[in-house]
Amino acid sequence: MTQQFTTPKKDLNWAELGFQYRPTEFRFRALHRNGQWSDGELITDNMISVHEGAPALHYAQQCFEGLKAQTAPDGRVLLFRPELNAERMRQAAERLLMPQVPEALFIRGVEEAVRANYAWIPPHGSGAALYIRPMLIGVGENLGLKTAKEFEFRVFVSPVGPYYKSAGLAVISLAVSDLDRAAPAGTGNYKIGANYAGGLLATRLAQELGANEALFLDARERRYIDEAGSANIVVAMRDGSFVTPGSNAVLPSVTRRSIMTLAEQELGMKIEQRAIDLRKEIDQFEEVAACGTAAVISPVGKIYIDGQWHSFYGEGEQAGPVMQKLYNLLVGIQRGELEDKFGWTHEV
Ligand code: PLP
Ligand code: COI
Repeated sequence: MTQQFTTPKKDLNWAELGFQYRPTEFRFRALHRNGQWSDGELITDNMISVHEGAPALHYAQQCFEGLKAQTAPDGRVLLFRPELNAERMRQAAERLLMPQVPEALFIRGVEEAVRANYAWIPPHGSGAALYIRPMLIGVGENLGLKTAKEFEFRVFVSPVGPYYKSAGLAVISLAVSDLDRAAPAGTGNYKIGANYAGGLLATRLAQELGANEALFLDARERRYIDEAGSANIVVAMRDGSFVTPGSNAVLPSVTRRSIMTLAEQELGMKIEQRAIDLRKEIDQFEEVAACGTAAVISPVGKIYIDGQWHSFYGEGEQAGPVMQKLYNLLVGIQRGELEDKFGWTHEV
């Protein structure tokens, strides 16, 4: 245990936290200059001062990650599969011609930011978590369309509550978007800001229809499910199979990959990763959920497509048994309440 682990917790109403930025004391920063990463350090300034020509600002040369730290019943602080986030940032950096953040630097940045802000890590049983946002941005003077000469890797943290506000498992609704999120050979499978700015309008339009979020179909045929604005999709079919889209234009969600393993190994379900033809198959959906670090597992009660709502388990008002079991398993492992058979948790 480090020194910081003895500092008293902040006096916050943990159970009431929403999903928003709350400043904490420390963030980790490493700079890439002249082809080399600096060692990296903890700093207190939550502002970044960059050149007005920075490629991150004009040409979206940037990527980010999202993961959580949670407190176990015995007080240990646990991350969930952080090496998968490191790998996904590595892939995004490669795609956007940015230098890779070595896994050791990524993990150390995350661990140092978490430890230094120990007082802000929600206690066990509060239902809240410490959200961790690593980011890599292209900075420095520039005008033409070319890669930045300097880069900043930063990790900040913020205590958060549920992404979709509700007591317990939130049942959400999705509206199919007429706008596309990602082209088949575009950048949809990378966690880069450019994918999200284009989705803001789709989210707003979906919310005007009364949905929580937009649901995107594949851009080529507008037939197959891709994903929601901030989460992947999983479906428990009436025939007992457990399915997720096979699209390569969606973010390879760490949560979804873990849920598929749990559905197969713990619930004994037949899992499939394949194209899901929404209009043809929607009547076969028993339970649907959106999943991700922020969304965790949020059952989808209904989906709006072609001018009508289609509802699933329990008239779209409640979580079904499959998603409830998967939620309990996933969150139980993440919070150190259940045995970590798969070796997914990482103690800070
Ligand atoms: N899809 C999108 C577009 C996301 O932004 C996220 C959030 O990170 C996810 C899926 C879920 O990914 P993960 O489970 O790795 O958080
Ligand atoms: C996450 O789930 O970690 C995300 O990055 C989604 C984001 C839109 C909050």
